Amino acid sequence: GELHGKVAVVTGGASGIGKGIAQRLVAHGAHVVIADIEESSLQKTAREIGAHPVRTDVSDSASVQALADATIKEFGRVDIVFNNAGVGPMASISDMTLDDWRWLINVNLWGVIHGVHSFLPLLQGNADGGHIVNTASIGGLATMPTLGGYSVTKYGVVALTETLAQELQMTGSKVGCSVLVPGPVHTNIQNSSRNRPSALQDAKLLDVDLTDMPAMAEMRWLEPEDVGELVIAAIRRKALYCFTHPELFAPIDARFAQIIAANIASKTLTD
Ligand code: NAI
Repeated sequence: GELHGKVAVVTGGASGIGKGIAQRLVAHGAHVVIADIEESSLQKTAREIGAHPVRTDVSDSASVQALADATIKEFGRVDIVFNNAGVGPMASISDMTLDDWRWLINVNLWGVIHGVHSFLPLLQGNADGGHIVNTASIGGLATMPTLGGYSVTKYGVVALTETLAQELQMTGSKVGCSVLVPGPVHTNIQNSSRNRPSALQDAKLLDVDLTDMPAMAEMRWLEPEDVGELVIAAIRRKALYCFTHPELFAPIDARFAQIIAANIASKTLTD
């Protein structure tokens, strides 16, 4: 296949969706760098799946630049970048501390910005281009109580990827990009606070195990490797959006319906 011999970088690759993506990439014959802040799981996963580990804090621009440099040093090139590292703790907006906001935005939004900033020039330098995949969430296209901080970051990831896609197309670039929009996946996201930096410890955000919630239990939960295959197929199709759960579109549909209705109402007001 076309992944054979390609070089891929996956942030948050020690666990969950990032690990699942990395496993499928290795199975398709790619050389894979996994980047993660959690040293012990990073080393363990690298040995388990046959990937190259680079300890990285995506919230730190210098750390992400060092990841890009290490990838070039090890493999001489890079073809596909997955900006996937993220955290998902919950609190209402009225409860969130500024440290809560900083941590969420630093990892989920700045992490993706750093990845695009350090890797896009490398991909654009390839004769055959490359691809960037940014992990958002259904929370990147619709909001829910207690996921406001998370949604702020994921809406940003969606906006960044949509704009990048327009600009790459406009300039005839051989680089493509996609945004991964997962629904429920069995991962370690319910333990996100394990990686919260001690400098941002004024915490109201809580780790919530969604598998314990009856409404969530009814949903179709995917395994990380299933998501890996779906995202690889989306890259092949050059699809901008990669939905893992097409059946969970109701909140997104309701948001669009509300926006359309408000726009129609404002037209009658200005008539
Ligand atoms: P996970 O907790 O299993 O994996 C996330 C990985 O990111 C961990 O290995 C963690 O150590 C790493 N990480 C955390 N902070 C980091 C930092 N500052 N620098 C580098 N690495 C860091 O969770 P999961 O679910 O696999 O999360 C991956 C992405 O998927 C996240 O962006 C999350 O928001 C997104 N997502 C997950 C869903 C789910 O149901 N699990 C649903 C929708 C989106």
